[in-house]
Amino acid sequence: MAEAVAEEPAAGLTPEQAEAERRAEGLCACKGVSTGAIEDAVLGGCHSRAAVAERTGASTGCGGCGPLVDEIIEDRTRLAAAA
Ligand code: FES
Repeated sequence: MAEAVAEEPAAGLTPEQAEAERRAEGLCACKGVSTGAIEDAVLGGCHSRAAVAERTGASTGCGGCGPLVDEIIEDRTRLAAAA
């Protein structure tokens, strides 16, 4: 039986590299849109799934990533309001 090993996220990466990897992570497989592209769209004024979809194409395929897009909108909007 294999021993479970705790995987360290971003092991060996600088904080900047880890952040770049997080942003580059694909969120919408159908349209090839990254997490960072969606975050940038929200920070650029897209505050609804429809607006993010229009700017990036995310959630316009199968729609499966729609709830994740909503989470990013809520998260980034909340962070911007707290700043
Ligand atoms: S994964 Fe985004 S529309 Fe299918």
